[in-house]
Amino acid sequence: MAILVTGGTGYIGSHTVVALIEAGQEVVIVDNLSNSKIEVVKRIEQITGVLPRFYQIDLLEKEQMRKVFQSESIDAVIHFAGLKAVGESVTMPLKYFRNNLDSTLTLLELMEEYHVNHFVFSSSATVYGKPKRVPIAEEFPIGEVSNPYGRTKYFIEKMIQDYCLGNPHFNACILRYFNPLGAHQSGLIGEEPDGIPNNLMPYITQVAIGKLSHLKVFGNDYQTPDGTGVRDYIHVLDLANGHVLALKKIQSNPGLVIYNLGTGKGYSVFDIIKTFEAVNKVKIPYTINPRRPGDIDECYADTTKAKKELDFVAMYTLEDMCRDSWNFQKTNFKITDSSHDAK
Ligand code: NAD
Ligand code: WQD
Repeated sequence: MAILVTGGTGYIGSHTVVALIEAGQEVVIVDNLSNSKIEVVKRIEQITGVLPRFYQIDLLEKEQMRKVFQSESIDAVIHFAGLKAVGESVTMPLKYFRNNLDSTLTLLELMEEYHVNHFVFSSSATVYGKPKRVPIAEEFPIGEVSNPYGRTKYFIEKMIQDYCLGNPHFNACILRYFNPLGAHQSGLIGEEPDGIPNNLMPYITQVAIGKLSHLKVFGNDYQTPDGTGVRDYIHVLDLANGHVLALKKIQSNPGLVIYNLGTGKGYSVFDIIKTFEAVNKVKIPYTINPRRPGDIDECYADTTKAKKELDFVAMYTLEDMCRDSWNFQKTNFKITDSSHDAK
Protein backbone atom coordinates (compact mmCIF):
# COMPACT_ATOMS: atom_id res chain seq x y z
CA MET A 1 0.00 0.00 0.00
CA ALA A 2 1.27 3.46 -0.87
CA ILE A 3 1.03 6.95 0.56
CA LEU A 4 -0.10 9.54 -1.98
CA VAL A 5 1.73 12.83 -1.36
CA THR A 6 0.24 15.80 -3.22
CA GLY A 7 2.67 18.71 -3.60
CA GLY A 8 5.45 16.19 -2.93
CA THR A 9 8.09 18.05 -4.96
CA GLY A 10 7.49 21.27 -2.98
CA TYR A 11 9.44 22.50 0.02
CA ILE A 12 7.76 20.67 2.92
CA GLY A 13 6.44 17.85 0.72
CA SER A 14 9.89 16.81 -0.56
CA HIS A 15 11.36 16.63 2.95
CA THR A 16 8.34 14.60 4.07
CA VAL A 17 8.72 12.19 1.14
CA VAL A 18 12.32 11.59 2.26
CA ALA A 19 11.19 10.98 5.85
CA LEU A 20 8.43 8.60 4.70
CA ILE A 21 10.80 6.59 2.51
CA GLU A 22 13.30 6.43 5.37
CA ALA A 23 10.46 5.15 7.58
CA GLY A 24 9.89 2.31 5.09
CA GLN A 25 6.78 3.70 3.35
CA GLU A 26 6.03 3.42 -0.35
CA VAL A 27 5.37 6.89 -1.77
CA VAL A 28 3.55 8.18 -4.86
CA ILE A 29 3.86 11.91 -5.66
CA VAL A 30 1.39 14.09 -7.54
CA ASP A 31 2.46 17.66 -8.33
CA ASN A 32 1.74 20.03 -11.22
CA LEU A 33 5.18 21.64 -10.80
CA SER A 34 3.63 25.12 -10.59
CA ASN A 35 5.99 25.92 -7.71
CA SER A 36 8.62 23.17 -7.82
CA LYS A 37 10.93 21.38 -10.20
CA ILE A 38 11.01 17.82 -11.58
CA GLU A 39 14.70 17.68 -10.54
CA VAL A 40 13.50 17.25 -6.93
CA VAL A 41 12.34 13.69 -7.68
CA LYS A 42 15.90 12.68 -8.65
CA ARG A 43 17.29 14.45 -5.63
CA ILE A 44 14.97 12.45 -3.39
CA GLU A 45 16.42 9.32 -5.01
CA GLN A 46 19.96 10.63 -4.41
CA ILE A 47 19.18 11.07 -0.71
CA THR A 48 17.18 7.90 -0.08
CA GLY A 49 18.26 5.48 -2.83
CA VAL A 50 14.58 5.12 -3.79
CA LEU A 51 12.92 6.77 -6.79
CA PRO A 52 9.32 7.60 -5.81
CA ARG A 53 6.67 7.25 -8.52
CA PHE A 54 5.83 10.72 -9.83
CA TYR A 55 2.76 12.00 -11.70
CA GLN A 56 2.80 15.52 -13.14
CA ILE A 57 -0.91 16.24 -12.74
CA ASP A 58 -2.95 19.25 -11.69
CA LEU A 59 -5.25 18.24 -8.85
CA LEU A 60 -8.04 20.18 -10.52
CA GLU A 61 -7.97 17.58 -13.34
CA LYS A 62 -10.26 15.01 -11.76
CA GLU A 63 -10.14 12.44 -14.57
CA GLN A 64 -6.34 12.38 -14.52
CA MET A 65 -6.39 12.06 -10.75
CA ARG A 66 -8.90 9.22 -10.98
CA LYS A 67 -6.34 7.27 -13.04
CA VAL A 68 -3.84 7.58 -10.19
CA PHE A 69 -6.38 6.17 -7.73
CA GLN A 70 -7.18 3.39 -10.23
CA SER A 71 -3.62 2.34 -10.90
CA GLU A 72 -2.05 2.81 -7.46
CA SER A 73 -2.95 0.99 -4.28
CA ILE A 74 -3.36 4.04 -2.02
CA ASP A 75 -3.86 3.71 1.72
CA ALA A 76 -3.43 7.34 2.83
CA VAL A 77 -3.11 10.83 1.37
CA ILE A 78 -0.91 13.65 2.65
CA HIS A 79 -2.15 16.83 1.02
CA PHE A 80 0.48 19.56 0.70
CA ALA A 81 -0.47 20.86 -2.76
CA GLY A 82 -1.66 24.44 -2.68
CA LEU A 83 -0.75 28.02 -3.44
CA LYS A 84 0.78 29.79 -0.45
CA ALA A 85 1.86 33.35 -1.29
CA VAL A 86 -0.04 35.60 1.12
CA GLY A 87 0.46 38.83 -0.89
CA GLU A 88 -0.55 37.24 -4.19
CA SER A 89 -3.69 35.84 -2.55
CA VAL A 90 -4.77 39.39 -1.70
CA THR A 91 -4.55 40.53 -5.33
CA MET A 92 -5.75 37.21 -6.87
CA PRO A 93 -8.20 35.72 -4.35
CA LEU A 94 -10.19 33.71 -6.92
CA LYS A 95 -7.05 31.92 -8.09
CA TYR A 96 -6.44 30.87 -4.47
CA PHE A 97 -10.03 29.80 -3.83
CA ARG A 98 -10.16 27.81 -7.08
CA ASN A 99 -6.81 26.10 -6.65
CA ASN A 100 -6.77 25.35 -2.93
CA LEU A 101 -10.46 24.59 -2.37
CA ASP A 102 -11.21 22.72 -5.60
CA SER A 103 -8.10 20.55 -5.39
CA THR A 104 -9.05 19.45 -1.87
CA LEU A 105 -12.64 18.74 -2.88
CA THR A 106 -11.50 16.64 -5.86
CA LEU A 107 -9.16 14.70 -3.62
CA LEU A 108 -11.80 14.03 -0.95
CA GLU A 109 -14.32 12.90 -3.59
CA LEU A 110 -11.84 10.47 -5.11
CA MET A 111 -10.84 9.21 -1.68
CA GLU A 112 -14.52 8.47 -1.00
CA GLU A 113 -14.92 6.76 -4.37
CA TYR A 114 -11.86 4.54 -3.78
CA HIS A 115 -12.49 3.99 -0.04
CA VAL A 116 -9.29 5.67 1.08
CA ASN A 117 -9.92 6.76 4.67
CA HIS A 118 -6.65 8.28 5.94
CA PHE A 119 -5.91 11.94 5.30
CA VAL A 120 -3.31 14.43 6.54
CA PHE A 121 -3.78 18.10 5.68
CA SER A 122 -1.28 21.00 5.71
CA SER A 123 -2.94 23.80 7.59
CA SER A 124 -1.22 26.81 9.10
CA ALA A 125 -0.95 28.82 12.30
CA THR A 126 -2.39 31.60 10.15
CA VAL A 127 -5.90 30.21 10.91
CA TYR A 128 -5.57 31.60 14.47
CA GLY A 129 -5.32 35.18 13.17
CA LYS A 130 -4.27 37.57 15.95
CA PRO A 131 -4.36 35.34 19.05
CA LYS A 132 -5.63 36.73 22.34
CA ARG A 133 -2.51 35.36 24.05
CA VAL A 134 0.52 33.13 23.46
CA PRO A 135 1.35 30.27 23.41
CA ILE A 136 -1.43 29.31 21.01
CA ALA A 137 -3.30 26.08 21.78
CA GLU A 138 -5.36 24.06 19.29
CA GLU A 139 -8.68 24.96 20.95
CA PHE A 140 -8.13 28.70 20.44
CA PRO A 141 -10.74 30.24 18.09
CA ILE A 142 -9.90 30.15 14.38
CA GLY A 143 -11.19 31.96 11.31
CA GLU A 144 -10.29 35.63 11.91
CA VAL A 145 -7.67 35.45 9.17
CA SER A 146 -6.27 38.51 7.44
CA ASN A 147 -5.94 37.27 3.84
CA PRO A 148 -7.53 34.93 1.24
CA TYR A 149 -4.67 32.39 1.53
CA GLY A 150 -5.39 31.98 5.23
CA ARG A 151 -9.10 31.84 4.47
CA THR A 152 -8.55 28.83 2.17
CA LYS A 153 -6.87 27.02 5.08
CA TYR A 154 -9.78 27.86 7.37
CA PHE A 155 -12.41 26.80 4.80
CA ILE A 156 -10.59 23.52 4.10
CA GLU A 157 -10.36 22.75 7.81
CA LYS A 158 -14.14 23.21 8.03
CA MET A 159 -14.64 21.09 4.89
CA ILE A 160 -12.64 18.26 6.47
CA GLN A 161 -14.49 18.62 9.78
CA ASP A 162 -17.89 18.35 8.05
CA TYR A 163 -16.77 15.40 5.96
CA CYS A 164 -15.54 13.56 9.06
CA LEU A 165 -18.97 14.09 10.65
CA GLY A 166 -20.67 12.60 7.60
CA ASN A 167 -18.27 9.67 7.16
CA PRO A 168 -17.46 7.91 10.44
CA HIS A 169 -14.87 5.70 8.69
CA PHE A 170 -12.78 8.71 7.69
CA ASN A 171 -9.67 9.60 9.72
CA ALA A 172 -8.08 12.99 9.23
CA CYS A 173 -5.21 14.82 10.86
CA ILE A 174 -5.01 18.58 10.41
CA LEU A 175 -1.51 19.89 11.09
CA ARG A 176 -1.13 23.60 11.78
CA TYR A 177 2.45 24.49 10.93
CA PHE A 178 4.16 27.47 12.48
CA ASN A 179 7.11 28.98 10.51
CA PRO A 180 9.18 26.34 8.66
CA LEU A 181 12.88 27.05 8.04
CA GLY A 182 15.97 25.05 7.11
CA ALA A 183 16.65 22.39 4.53
CA HIS A 184 17.95 18.84 4.23
CA GLN A 185 21.59 18.70 5.40
CA SER A 186 22.69 17.33 2.01
CA GLY A 187 21.83 20.71 0.45
CA LEU A 188 19.94 18.79 -2.27
CA ILE A 189 16.42 19.91 -1.35
CA GLY A 190 15.19 23.12 0.29
CA GLU A 191 13.06 26.18 -0.29
CA GLU A 192 13.47 27.89 -3.67
CA PRO A 193 11.09 30.84 -3.96
CA ASP A 194 10.58 32.46 -7.36
CA GLY A 195 11.42 36.18 -7.52
CA ILE A 196 11.83 38.32 -4.43
CA PRO A 197 11.05 36.24 -1.33
CA ASN A 198 8.15 37.18 0.96
CA ASN A 199 9.35 35.18 3.95
CA LEU A 200 12.14 36.17 6.31
CA MET A 201 14.69 33.35 5.92
CA PRO A 202 14.83 33.12 2.12
CA TYR A 203 15.19 36.91 2.10
CA ILE A 204 18.09 36.71 4.57
CA THR A 205 19.90 33.98 2.61
CA GLN A 206 19.57 36.03 -0.59
CA VAL A 207 21.06 39.05 1.21
CA ALA A 208 23.86 36.83 2.52
CA ILE A 209 24.72 35.59 -0.98
CA GLY A 210 24.65 39.14 -2.38
CA LYS A 211 21.56 38.75 -4.55
CA LEU A 212 19.65 41.32 -2.47
CA SER A 213 21.36 44.33 -0.87
CA HIS A 214 19.83 44.35 2.62
CA LEU A 215 16.97 43.04 4.74
CA LYS A 216 14.03 45.29 5.42
CA VAL A 217 12.94 44.69 9.01
CA PHE A 218 9.18 45.25 9.07
CA GLY A 219 8.67 47.28 12.24
CA ASN A 220 10.60 47.63 15.52
CA ASP A 221 7.71 48.91 17.64
CA TYR A 222 5.85 45.67 18.34
CA GLN A 223 4.94 44.62 21.89
CA THR A 224 7.90 42.22 22.04
CA PRO A 225 11.20 42.26 24.00
CA ASP A 226 13.20 43.94 21.19
CA GLY A 227 10.28 45.48 19.26
CA THR A 228 10.51 43.15 16.22
CA GLY A 229 7.98 40.42 15.37
CA VAL A 230 8.25 37.11 17.22
CA ARG A 231 7.50 33.76 15.53
CA ASP A 232 7.85 30.04 16.21
CA TYR A 233 10.43 28.84 13.66
CA ILE A 234 10.56 25.08 13.15
CA HIS A 235 13.06 23.05 11.13
CA VAL A 236 11.49 21.49 8.03
CA LEU A 237 13.05 18.14 9.05
CA ASP A 238 11.09 18.29 12.31
CA LEU A 239 7.94 19.08 10.34
CA ALA A 240 8.62 16.12 8.04
CA ASN A 241 8.93 13.84 11.04
CA GLY A 242 5.64 15.25 12.36
CA HIS A 243 3.92 13.85 9.24
CA VAL A 244 5.34 10.38 9.80
CA LEU A 245 3.90 10.51 13.33
CA ALA A 246 0.58 11.91 12.08
CA LEU A 247 0.28 9.02 9.64
CA LYS A 248 0.86 6.56 12.45
CA LYS A 249 -1.76 8.33 14.53
CA ILE A 250 -4.52 8.17 11.91
CA GLN A 251 -3.88 4.45 11.36
CA SER A 252 -5.38 4.02 14.85
CA ASN A 253 -8.73 5.38 13.51
CA PRO A 254 -9.12 8.43 15.77
CA GLY A 255 -11.61 10.30 13.51
CA LEU A 256 -10.55 13.96 13.27
CA VAL A 257 -7.46 15.14 15.16
CA ILE A 258 -5.77 18.55 15.03
CA TYR A 259 -2.22 19.42 16.10
CA ASN A 260 0.10 22.40 16.16
CA LEU A 261 3.54 21.69 14.75
CA GLY A 262 5.91 24.19 16.30
CA THR A 263 8.76 24.28 18.81
CA GLY A 264 6.92 26.30 21.46
CA LYS A 265 9.70 28.94 21.42
CA GLY A 266 9.41 32.43 19.99
CA TYR A 267 12.29 34.23 18.28
CA SER A 268 12.36 37.83 17.06
CA VAL A 269 13.59 39.09 13.69
CA PHE A 270 16.71 40.42 15.45
CA ASP A 271 17.28 36.98 17.06
CA ILE A 272 17.21 35.43 13.59
CA ILE A 273 19.63 38.00 12.13
CA LYS A 274 22.07 37.63 15.05
CA THR A 275 21.97 33.84 15.04
CA PHE A 276 22.35 33.65 11.26
CA GLU A 277 25.38 35.97 11.39
CA ALA A 278 27.00 34.09 14.27
CA VAL A 279 26.49 30.57 12.89
CA ASN A 280 27.38 31.33 9.29
CA LYS A 281 29.92 34.13 9.77
CA VAL A 282 28.12 36.35 7.24
CA LYS A 283 26.94 39.92 7.76
CA ILE A 284 23.25 40.75 7.16
CA PRO A 285 22.82 44.50 6.58
CA TYR A 286 19.33 45.72 7.42
CA THR A 287 17.15 48.80 7.63
CA ILE A 288 14.15 49.40 9.86
CA ASN A 289 11.01 49.78 7.74
CA PRO A 290 7.31 50.33 8.46
CA ARG A 291 5.23 47.40 9.68
CA ARG A 292 3.93 45.01 7.01
CA PRO A 293 0.10 45.11 6.86
CA GLY A 294 -1.50 42.08 8.54
CA ASP A 295 1.56 41.19 10.67
CA ILE A 296 1.03 40.42 14.36
CA ASP A 297 3.30 40.98 17.36
CA GLU A 298 3.93 37.39 18.37
CA CYS A 299 2.91 33.89 17.46
CA TYR A 300 4.19 30.67 18.98
CA ALA A 301 2.73 27.27 19.64
CA ASP A 302 1.51 25.47 22.71
CA THR A 303 3.08 22.09 21.92
CA THR A 304 1.51 20.12 24.79
CA LYS A 305 -1.13 18.29 22.75
CA ALA A 306 1.23 17.25 19.92
CA LYS A 307 3.72 16.00 22.49
CA LYS A 308 1.12 14.03 24.46
CA GLU A 309 -0.89 12.53 21.60
CA LEU A 310 1.59 12.38 18.70
CA ASP A 311 4.80 12.03 20.66
CA PHE A 312 6.04 14.99 18.63
CA VAL A 313 8.95 17.06 19.94
CA ALA A 314 11.00 19.35 17.68
CA MET A 315 14.69 18.35 17.86
CA TYR A 316 16.47 21.00 15.81
CA THR A 317 17.67 24.37 17.12
CA LEU A 318 17.56 27.84 15.57
CA GLU A 319 21.30 27.44 14.91
CA ASP A 320 20.56 24.27 12.88
CA MET A 321 17.86 26.09 10.91
CA CYS A 322 20.18 29.03 10.08
CA ARG A 323 23.06 26.72 9.12
CA ASP A 324 20.95 24.45 6.90
CA SER A 325 19.09 27.31 5.16
CA TRP A 326 22.43 28.92 4.30
CA ASN A 327 23.95 25.61 3.18
CA PHE A 328 21.04 25.09 0.76
CA GLN A 329 21.31 28.63 -0.59
CA LYS A 330 25.07 28.31 -1.15
CA THR A 331 24.78 24.88 -2.76
CA ASN A 332 22.02 25.94 -5.14
CA PHE A 333 22.94 29.50 -6.01
CA LYS A 334 23.03 30.05 -9.74
CA ILE A 335 24.91 33.09 -11.09
CA THR A 336 22.16 33.53 -13.70
CA ASP A 337 19.71 34.07 -10.84
CA SER A 338 21.29 37.34 -9.74
CA SER A 339 18.94 39.46 -11.82
CA HIS A 340 16.70 41.25 -9.34
CA ASP A 341 17.79 43.32 -6.41
CA ALA A 342 15.28 45.22 -4.29
CA LYS A 343 17.49 48.11 -3.27
P1 NAD B 1 5.41 24.69 -1.97
O1 NAD B 1 4.83 25.73 -2.87
O2 NAD B 1 6.89 24.53 -1.93
O3 NAD B 1 4.75 23.27 -2.29
C1 NAD B 1 3.42 23.13 -2.74
C2 NAD B 1 3.45 22.23 -3.99
O4 NAD B 1 2.11 22.08 -4.47
C3 NAD B 1 4.27 22.82 -5.13
O5 NAD B 1 5.24 21.87 -5.55
C4 NAD B 1 3.24 23.10 -6.24
O6 NAD B 1 3.78 22.88 -7.52
C5 NAD B 1 2.13 22.12 -5.89
N1 NAD B 1 0.78 22.49 -6.32
C6 NAD B 1 0.12 23.66 -6.10
N2 NAD B 1 -1.11 23.61 -6.64
C7 NAD B 1 -1.24 22.37 -7.20
C8 NAD B 1 -2.29 21.73 -7.93
N3 NAD B 1 -3.45 22.33 -8.20
N4 NAD B 1 -2.08 20.46 -8.37
C9 NAD B 1 -0.91 19.83 -8.12
N5 NAD B 1 0.12 20.39 -7.45
C10 NAD B 1 -0.05 21.66 -7.00
O7 NAD B 1 4.84 25.00 -0.51
P2 NAD B 1 5.30 24.41 0.91
O8 NAD B 1 5.98 25.49 1.64
O9 NAD B 1 5.96 23.11 0.73
O10 NAD B 1 3.87 24.23 1.57
C11 NAD B 1 3.19 22.98 1.54
C12 NAD B 1 1.83 23.17 2.18
O11 NAD B 1 1.99 23.63 3.52
C13 NAD B 1 0.95 24.21 1.47
O12 NAD B 1 -0.38 23.75 1.49
C14 NAD B 1 1.10 25.44 2.34
O13 NAD B 1 -0.02 26.27 2.29
C15 NAD B 1 1.24 24.81 3.72
N6 NAD B 1 1.97 25.67 4.69
C16 NAD B 1 3.18 26.18 4.34
C17 NAD B 1 3.86 27.02 5.22
C18 NAD B 1 5.18 27.65 4.84
O14 NAD B 1 5.54 28.66 5.44
N7 NAD B 1 5.92 27.10 3.88
C19 NAD B 1 3.30 27.29 6.48
C20 NAD B 1 2.07 26.73 6.82
C21 NAD B 1 1.41 25.92 5.90
C1 WQD C 1 8.37 36.43 9.84
C2 WQD C 1 8.75 37.72 10.58
C3 WQD C 1 7.88 39.72 9.57
C4 WQD C 1 10.21 39.38 5.87
C5 WQD C 1 3.99 33.63 6.77
C6 WQD C 1 2.55 33.46 6.41
C7 WQD C 1 1.95 32.30 7.16
C8 WQD C 1 2.78 31.03 6.97
C9 WQD C 1 4.24 31.26 7.22
C10 WQD C 1 1.84 29.67 5.27
C11 WQD C 1 7.61 38.73 10.69
C12 WQD C 1 9.39 39.70 9.50
C13 WQD C 1 9.67 39.16 7.12
C14 WQD C 1 11.05 40.51 5.67
C15 WQD C 1 10.77 41.07 8.00
N1 WQD C 1 2.70 30.53 5.64
N2 WQD C 1 9.95 39.97 8.16
N3 WQD C 1 11.30 41.30 6.75
O1 WQD C 1 4.46 36.37 8.24
O2 WQD C 1 5.00 34.91 10.22
O3 WQD C 1 4.10 33.89 8.18
O4 WQD C 1 4.70 32.40 6.49
O5 WQD C 1 0.91 29.24 5.87
O6 WQD C 1 0.64 32.15 6.67
O7 WQD C 1 1.84 34.67 6.70
O8 WQD C 1 6.39 34.74 8.14
O9 WQD C 1 8.70 34.81 7.27
O10 WQD C 1 6.97 36.37 6.27
O11 WQD C 1 7.78 36.78 8.60
O12 WQD C 1 11.03 41.84 8.91
O13 WQD C 1 11.52 40.76 4.56
O14 WQD C 1 9.77 38.38 9.83
O15 WQD C 1 7.40 41.00 9.81
O16 WQD C 1 7.73 39.35 11.94
P1 WQD C 1 4.94 35.10 8.75
P2 WQD C 1 7.50 35.65 7.48
